[in-house]
Amino acid sequence: MMNEDQQHSSQTLTTRQGHPVTDNQNIRTVGDRGPSTLENYHFIEKITHFDRERVPERVVHARGAGAHGVFEAYGTAGNEPVSAYTRAKLFQEAGKQTPVFARFSTVIHGTHSPETLRDPRGFAIKFYTEDGIWDLVGNNLKIFFIRDPLKFPDMVHAFKPDPITNVQDMERFFDFVSMSPESTHMITFLFSPWGIPANYRQMQGSGVNTYKWVNQNGDAVLVKYHWEPIKQGIKNLLQREANEIQALNFNHATLDLYEAIKRGEYPEWELSVQIMSDGEHPELSFDPLDPTKLWPQEQFPFLPVGKMTLNRNPDDYFTEVEQASFGTGVLVDGLDFSDDKLLQGRTFSYSDTQRYRVGTNYLQLPINAPKANVATNQSGGQMLYRPDRAPGQNPHVNYEPSSLGGLQEAARQGNEHKPHYDADLTRQAIGRTNDFQQAGETYRAFEDWERDELIANLVDALRVCSSGIQERMIRHFSEADADYGRRVEKGLVQGGHRKIKSGQTDPEQAVDLSKRMGREAD
Ligand code: HEM
Repeated sequence: MMNEDQQHSSQTLTTRQGHPVTDNQNIRTVGDRGPSTLENYHFIEKITHFDRERVPERVVHARGAGAHGVFEAYGTAGNEPVSAYTRAKLFQEAGKQTPVFARFSTVIHGTHSPETLRDPRGFAIKFYTEDGIWDLVGNNLKIFFIRDPLKFPDMVHAFKPDPITNVQDMERFFDFVSMSPESTHMITFLFSPWGIPANYRQMQGSGVNTYKWVNQNGDAVLVKYHWEPIKQGIKNLLQREANEIQALNFNHATLDLYEAIKRGEYPEWELSVQIMSDGEHPELSFDPLDPTKLWPQEQFPFLPVGKMTLNRNPDDYFTEVEQASFGTGVLVDGLDFSDDKLLQGRTFSYSDTQRYRVGTNYLQLPINAPKANVATNQSGGQMLYRPDRAPGQNPHVNYEPSSLGGLQEAARQGNEHKPHYDADLTRQAIGRTNDFQQAGETYRAFEDWERDELIANLVDALRVCSSGIQERMIRHFSEADADYGRRVEKGLVQGGHRKIKSGQTDPEQAVDLSKRMGREAD
């Protein structure tokens, strides 16, 4: 307790109202044994704030770690000046620096779940550019499970814990996957060692979706973004290695990032783009807007455009990492959306969830606010910190247009990119689904040990699945590559997990499963 004659200093404990706290050990009571009184403002402020310390965790990507850094542009994209493709200011001059904040994450489980799990890893970067924020919200793997955003909530439900047991169940996971053949390619990566990066520093990143770059003339090209860990290299884990780490430390990736930066060993990634002319490209075996596909590097080489260095740990986890809000809709002039349907679905979803998760005025929080000028006529809403007023703006004018000194529209920075549409409004899958070809190519591109690990991991996951699900998965793997399907089937048979041959159904197995799962056999 503080002696009354002592001076209050900047270190003095106060309430949020600025009242110095003279006793932080005892609530106010009638006599030393109570009862307590209701006017204990200090206690009530403290306990009610504590009661509200948690906000909803992210519905996906809840577990994460973040760091600040800088992006430095090369000014070129391969041999061309970058201005041939984009007028985005952050890329133009060699050596131009833009501050960034990065958040890496796992996807499926909650905020304190192990970081050793087989799961894609999030790779989200916020660029504080002179034209406002650009968020590049990617993953470590270069492709995705699905191509239509309507399927995303179902996919996440199937991958997340069972609604009754609250435990992730590979049967529910593969039930969805086996009925979504477009996921075969992603599953091939995910169950290989690429599905467990050793930590956040030694993994790649990718924007996954197809975006556009727009130059001064308003001409657009299609682009994909890729981050390569140039200094640290890439390292993935065998399942056995992940198990060993998890037994001792389930926070290893967060600690690895934090401690490397604290030691001054700053991780670096080079950003490259793949560029394709805007259009449908009927000559390709895949649709350029399909996020389940890689763009072959022989045809579409990686063109380096800059480098990111992470060099500062957050001062506070909650205010910086937890409240950080990234979204695919957050682009700057010179960057644009493509018609990739998944990208368009995502673009609605991110800011929608953040208005709920963080609050209406989430963009005023320091981690989310642009370092560029912000001047809007938006007002009100919970936790409004200050009006977005410009210096010299007539404060009575919170509308536009106005002749009384309100905010003005900006001048255009270049010609507008105006894609033209002439098509029926419809609900239809894209024409070139080609779900298995690239999965087979990826399977064959793996090294022997990666293929061995892939088969072992798939057999281990599929052994709990009903024979119908096993059957469908074997069929999809066989479509990708005959050897792939054969090896998964052989592994299941040898382990005693598959008593019947492909093409037959096993009523006994179905009955057993219905008992185990407490649900009707299908
Ligand atoms: C986080 C939706 C696909 C990468 C999220 C969040 C939502 C969401 C609602 C939580 C955001 C928050 O609370 O701040 C969707 C939908 C998708 C989709 C609807 C498909 C239709 C993808 C894909 C990628 C991806 C394809 C990778 C390219 C991420 C990352 C985060 C995230 C990295 C975490 C961002 C952070 O660190 O705060 N997603 N997502 N998502 N998503 Fe997606």
